[in-house]
Amino acid sequence: MTAPRMTVLVVGATGSIGRLAVDEAIRQGHAVRALVRTPEKARQLPPEAQVVIGDVTRPETLDDAVEGVNAIVFTLGSDGAGKAGAEAVDYGGVRNVLLALGSRKARIALMTSIGVTNRTGSYNRSTESHDWKRRSERLVRASGLPYTIVRPGWFDYNGPDEHRLVLLQGDTHQAGNSSDGVIARGQIAEVLVRSLVSDHTLRKTFELIATKGPATEDFDALFAPLDADPQGALDGVRDRSNQPLEDEPQRVRDDLDAVRAH
Ligand SMILES: NC(=O)c1ccc[n+]([C@@H]2O[C@H](COP(=O)([O-])OP(=O)(O)OC[C@H]3O[C@@H](n4cnc5c(N)ncnc54)[C@H](OP(=O)(O)O)[C@@H]3O)[C@@H](O)[C@H]2O)c1
Repeated sequence: MTAPRMTVLVVGATGSIGRLAVDEAIRQGHAVRALVRTPEKARQLPPEAQVVIGDVTRPETLDDAVEGVNAIVFTLGSDGAGKAGAEAVDYGGVRNVLLALGSRKARIALMTSIGVTNRTGSYNRSTESHDWKRRSERLVRASGLPYTIVRPGWFDYNGPDEHRLVLLQGDTHQAGNSSDGVIARGQIAEVLVRSLVSDHTLRKTFELIATKGPATEDFDALFAPLDADPQGALDGVRDRSNQPLEDEPQRVRDDLDAVRAH
């Protein structure tokens, strides 16, 4: 499959996954735009990437970033910034970029996390990171844009022979440690970028892990058997129903209405 050349915006481009997504998108022949908070950070990116300075928590800085893009890869992370960071960056960043995009169409690839529907574990109780990332997934589904949501397993615990990609649905692996599944950062970046050009990833949500075996080469064969999310659904196919909309904060429900309206 020859990927059509797109203009791909990477949001979180200086992060451990975002940097690799930038490299991967360039390798796959796309024009890459990188949203970066400061010019100093931009120096670590390859010269082929077009850098746009912006902060996802400041909507007024996002217009140039979304202008003319065909696709957006979100690899934001607010690790260490607690509940406020999870709301402002992991969730609010997705909301603000989608609102800046307005009525323009773009293919979306959103990275969240395996276990994102686990609300009762100690990690989510202290950070609300899962709840806010799940709300960011809901914004993407509600936007009506063509999307793929990738929930990676635990980064970089792969054994030397664990190259085979495995996709799961329903978010059933919730031990909260690497026994839930492992994945290399480069594998995440590759799947995010490949998802942008496959017809087999549309409206699909999946957990991404790697197991023993050779590297995956046929990505359409990997993506095709997955079930799409039901049309109009807020959650991923077969996700547990444990975050009812009626219990959500009013501001979250307002945001869903706002992205639907665009
Ligand atoms: N570790 C695991 O095993 C694991 C497994 C599954 C999912 N995850 C999830 O993966 C995420 C971490 O990914 P990562 O390692 O790539 O994170 P990272 O290296 O911390 O990168 C986060 C990116 O987000 C950007 N960012 C943060 N706030 C921003 C803002 N206000 N405006 C614009 N950009 C902003 C950062 O920019 P700066 O460079 O300017 O800070 C950086 O580019 C976490 O959220 C975690 O929940 C982790």
